[in-house]
Amino acid sequence: MRRARSATPSTNTDRHTTQRKREFTTVTALTLSTSGAATLRADALVVGIAKGAGSKSADLVVASGAEAVDKAFDGKLATVLETLGASGAEGEVTKLPAPSGLKVPVVVAVGLGPVPAKDDAYDSEVLRRAAGSAARALKGSKKAGFALPTESVEDASAVAEGALLGAYAFTAYQGGENRLAPKGAKADARKLPLGEVILLGTKPRDKAFKAAAERAVAVAEEINRARDLINTPPNDLYPESFAAVASAAGKEHGIKVQVLDEKALVKGGYGGLLGVGQGSTHGPRLVKLSYTHPKAEKTLALVGKGITYDSGGISLKSPGHNETMKCDMSGAAAVFAAVVSAARLGLRVNVTGWLALAENMPSGDATRPGDVLHMYSGKTVEVLNTDAEGRLVLADALTRASEEKPDAIVDVATLTGAMVVALGNRTFGVMSNDDAFRTSIHEIAEEVGEASWPMPLPADLRRGMDSPTADIANMGEKMGGGLVAGLFLQEFVGEGIAWAHLDIAGPAFHEGAPYGYTPKGGTGSAVRTLVRLAERTAAGDLG
Ligand code: BES
Ligand code: MN
Ligand code: ZN
Repeated sequence: MRRARSATPSTNTDRHTTQRKREFTTVTALTLSTSGAATLRADALVVGIAKGAGSKSADLVVASGAEAVDKAFDGKLATVLETLGASGAEGEVTKLPAPSGLKVPVVVAVGLGPVPAKDDAYDSEVLRRAAGSAARALKGSKKAGFALPTESVEDASAVAEGALLGAYAFTAYQGGENRLAPKGAKADARKLPLGEVILLGTKPRDKAFKAAAERAVAVAEEINRARDLINTPPNDLYPESFAAVASAAGKEHGIKVQVLDEKALVKGGYGGLLGVGQGSTHGPRLVKLSYTHPKAEKTLALVGKGITYDSGGISLKSPGHNETMKCDMSGAAAVFAAVVSAARLGLRVNVTGWLALAENMPSGDATRPGDVLHMYSGKTVEVLNTDAEGRLVLADALTRASEEKPDAIVDVATLTGAMVVALGNRTFGVMSNDDAFRTSIHEIAEEVGEASWPMPLPADLRRGMDSPTADIANMGEKMGGGLVAGLFLQEFVGEGIAWAHLDIAGPAFHEGAPYGYTPKGGTGSAVRTLVRLAERTAAGDLG
């Protein structure tokens, strides 16, 4: 699998467009434009509507950015929308024919929830989700103008991110784009992502706006690539093919990529990765991605769980629990996306990504419950349940990452069903050996619009993993299973290194109806948090 080369962003007098090709589908282009909504020729104009705060609580308020559109409706846009039944609720999308004064056929009104308190700007996440809902509603269209609030760089960033993430569609295995499809088969155009997002009323020649647009494009494209990897079926995405994608991306973005294949893993004594991968015909890999900046003062290590399919192994999962287990490499996909984003943004920090890749399958060669593995760290692990495989591959990668003495390590993993029970489907858990670091990560996640919650690592749960045979067992008490997994990982982190563990088992893969900028399937959970963490580390904001 290869990525097409990037087109250089083009700038003309009033526009700034960035367009690239993604692996499977055409990416959405982003254009900043000073021009107003009245003169734009496009397929649609997007406007925001909020619930009024006045005595008549049903009153709709047209959000800033859409003044020209409202004028084309003789100032009656809110009234028309109210008559159509719009309430301004978050996520609500109302399409209506445009009046003759506009050069687009359709206006798309998207709800922003309650109007913010006086002078208070809309919350970034509200704008991100609204732009995402609008972009989703515009699938199959070529070009749309976003007349949402974009006066501040922060608002413009949020709208850009939301639109580019909401436009995402995974169509690689549907009609025509699949290389196995009959010749001449055509992709269903209605399902293709919106082709171009035009942010109206922005300043394309202003440095801050340009930088924000470029950042939004880089991060959204890498999140969308992570989504592609997660959504790719496990018969096509296995450790070797994932490593090949990483190598190709490394070449494109000046990232050094080293791949340890099975032979190298045996030579190095990576018993965790080998033990998990030995049941599969597709052998395990450990991929190291190194992005370095000549003036970097800090090094951040990111470690991702990359189980390309988790059947449970000999402790086989039951039907109902294995259908979505192609998502078990979401941590590795997030780490990969974050390292590439850091490189594309040229951040002044070194970021090393470790992808712990293996397929967890049952076979005559598979690890048995009762087997003892000799880990890379030298510790022995009694495998009591082969379905607790993530911690085994991560343990080796954490030990290896620690050898290089980074300033901090963050691992990302779809690690436990217990974390989903604790926090639900939209929130990831944050555990750490350093309270301040855990708090920072929680706050950073909040800032970028990702839901997370700090979780403890209670020392008393360690006893449950005592093994009569080995140094530790890979399972402990059932209660608090997410924390038990965290305690296991902690044993493989080098002395004195600040470490955090993000259990994204809930939010990594979305099975319900799409909402905001979140599609069905792979979400790209944790990428925005990791990128902001890298930016903060570069700025010297953290310890
Ligand atoms: N990959 C699963 C965890 C998971 C569950 C991810 C649901 C996404 C959605 C992990 O490898 C696993 O099977 N964990 C076991 C651990 C147990 C055997 C100690 C679990 O959570 O049941
Ligand atoms: Mn498992
Ligand atoms: Zn797993």
